[in-house]
Amino acid sequence: MTLCEYRPGLEGIPAAQSSVSYVDGQRGILEYRGIRIEELAEKSTFLETSYLLIWGVLPTKEELDAFEHEIRYHRRIKYRIRDMMKCFPESGHPMDALQASAAALGLFYSRRDLHNPAYTREAVVRLLAKIPTMVAAFQLMRKGNDPVQPRDDLGYSANFLYMLNEQEPDPLTARIFDICLTLHAEHTMNASTFSSRVTASTLTDPYAVMASAVGTLGGPLHGGANEEVISMLEEIGSVENVRPFLDDRLEHKAKIMGFGHRVYKVKDPRATILQNLVQQLFESFGHDKYYDIAVELEKAVEEKLGQKGIYPNVDFYSGLVYRKMGIPIDLFTPIFAIARVAGWLAHWKEQIEENRIYRPTQVYTGLHEATYIPIEQR
Ligand code: CMC
Repeated sequence: MTLCEYRPGLEGIPAAQSSVSYVDGQRGILEYRGIRIEELAEKSTFLETSYLLIWGVLPTKEELDAFEHEIRYHRRIKYRIRDMMKCFPESGHPMDALQASAAALGLFYSRRDLHNPAYTREAVVRLLAKIPTMVAAFQLMRKGNDPVQPRDDLGYSANFLYMLNEQEPDPLTARIFDICLTLHAEHTMNASTFSSRVTASTLTDPYAVMASAVGTLGGPLHGGANEEVISMLEEIGSVENVRPFLDDRLEHKAKIMGFGHRVYKVKDPRATILQNLVQQLFESFGHDKYYDIAVELEKAVEEKLGQKGIYPNVDFYSGLVYRKMGIPIDLFTPIFAIARVAGWLAHWKEQIEENRIYRPTQVYTGLHEATYIPIEQR
């Protein structure tokens, strides 16, 4: 074995062999199982895309019907999980609530039979079905309300929005939300996916795998950036203030949230699709001045940082879509997690099918043969 040089952030170092998704960061291409994201966003649904990611093929009509039916059936959460969630502090971040609730599923479904396809199917269905219910339940409970039961007559995305707002969404909003889930479902070896594979490689249960990935997604350099984008646009406040704001940030060497990517050196294809979706929402439900600020910021960042390959990433426009739908800012990342569960499950399955526990090495920079100094002499 040849020893590689140490690269901070493991940049450029393959951490797995995977056939789940592919990114070409120079040409701005994203494919799930070989199919371009633009085509999936236009023609598929989140659940069909999840099936594709997890089982590697597009389902037949019968297979998709059966999958959707099972997910509808498993949407409810046990009352003891709801009771546990009621004890969470309402000031807590919904990502922390989600991480704790995802881990708690492992207590309720503790059987572990990783190499049995029926067990895999059951875990996939439960997680895709229950994670949105838990996100919506925490949102209502922290406002002091009882959670709303899922509605079996509604599709996946419409049901989530219904549980969140206690009101059935209009078809355009439900469809756009579903496309957002499709766009966020998977994205090669990012931090949370890596985390899910490391946890999976210990052969623990899939609920622990999801909890570990949710915890990793929450940080502001990863899924948490979409929240920060909205705070930043609010702070900018007007189109005129965009350039002074940017100059000030760059002078202080601060990052501009929603821009830059380890892999993409052009505009993220998902950002382009999301920008179109924002425009569709505005046509139906009225304009939002923060969009004008965002467009001006994109222009200004491109002028200043385009030569470094810094362009909008997926998080730049997603917050504007959710904001227009009236979703609270701190739910943006849990919604990212609802979608990414599909990708994490695909990687969990791929990892355990050909498993070797992750055990990298390190470059030791500490002392050797150091002396123990008794406490009274320190
Ligand atoms: N604003 C200003 N400069 C930036 C930005 C940015 N958003 N991103 C990168 N740069 C500069 C950075 O200062 C550095 O410049 P220099 O070489 O002169 O020191 C260079 O570009 C490389 O940056 P890096 O931080 O070493 O790049 P990375 O590959 O380690 O980080 C990133 C990638 C996404 C963490 C980073 O671009 C970033 O912090 N962006 C803002 C946060 C964000 O939007 N995150 C969402 C990521 S996409 C969705 C997801 O993964 O969940």
